[in-house]
Amino acid sequence: MTTAPVAAGRAAVVCGIGAELPPHIVTNADLTAGLDTTDEWIRSRTGIAQRHIAGADLSTGDLAVRAGAQALADGQPVTVEALVVATTTPDRCCPATAPAVATRLGLTGIPAYDLAAGCTGFLYALATGAGLVATGTVRTVLVIGADRLAALPNPEDRTTVPLFGDGAGALLLRQGSADEAGALGPVVLGSDGTGADLIRASRPGALHMDGSEVFRHAVDRMATASRQAATAAGWELDDIDRLIPHQANSRITAFVARRLGVPEDRQLSDITETGNTGAASIPLLLARSAADGRLKPGHRTLLTAFGAGLTWGATTLTWPSLRNSHPTERGRT
Ligand code: UT7
Repeated sequence: MTTAPVAAGRAAVVCGIGAELPPHIVTNADLTAGLDTTDEWIRSRTGIAQRHIAGADLSTGDLAVRAGAQALADGQPVTVEALVVATTTPDRCCPATAPAVATRLGLTGIPAYDLAAGCTGFLYALATGAGLVATGTVRTVLVIGADRLAALPNPEDRTTVPLFGDGAGALLLRQGSADEAGALGPVVLGSDGTGADLIRASRPGALHMDGSEVFRHAVDRMATASRQAATAAGWELDDIDRLIPHQANSRITAFVARRLGVPEDRQLSDITETGNTGAASIPLLLARSAADGRLKPGHRTLLTAFGAGLTWGATTLTWPSLRNSHPTERGRT
């Protein structure tokens, strides 16, 4: 499915970014104390060297508030009129996490809702946020991806524990025009419930994942969605300056880039430092690479993700000039 902006020329434009990572870092070496694994296996099969883990005192809502506050501080001064929180790990089954996050950000009264689409959640949330703007329902929307995925695996399962980390990232969108830097292009989204059992968790500590089957689907779906999003934006694949794929496994993202013919130096990554942070992964990578200079204003940027559901998505934007915010700038690695 491709979501096109409703009113010709009107678009949702990125005008702020924020990111948050818990201070506690768990390295691969730390994991070998309790799991039958090695740093070499984890690095070579996934690209991951460490992950940030939230303690019991840091909820998904806490991470979301910190990333959202950064996006508001770093964005142009606007009044936020809606909030979407993409998460697979809400603080409670009911109520949703977003209304409490909104209130803690001083935004009581605005529409605020959660959205669950696995690791594709941030792109689904961007699409709905952009839709609110395109229809004129609101003029600004804060979109946050926040997850504590490290809580999902069985702590004794070496096949899933090393993969996941915690974090949150946010983009602030405002109403603008499609020809501005920062304007989101059409969003390609899809799902396939026949693969629902491939990644599933009935509760924290009970994650099941068929890794190799998920790997195959992830490469196929992200490559196809990326092509579709580029075409919908009127781009050739050669036009892509920066590919920002969901960070699940560096071998998956390398395959996606190869299928698209995107040179390695244009495919950005931070999985070594963060592991798979679910709905937070794309905004975290955007924030880190904008902060360290790998992503510059004017870069034609393609975002793509794949996750539980199965779900997938992709979209485009020309990276705008923003004041950047990433925890690395605030002294964290
Ligand atoms: O966010 C979207 C959702 N998630 C993903 O996209 C993840 C997709 N899948 C993957 O990233 C990879 O499939 C994994 C990283 C999960 C696994 O890598 P793999 O290369 O597909 O390995 P495998 O599952 O085929 O396992 C190969 C071997 C097995 O041993 P045997 O049966 O060959 O003796 C595993 O038991 O590696 C073993 N193994 C490990 N060994 C050391 C699995 N996990 C570990 C480990 N340490 N942590």
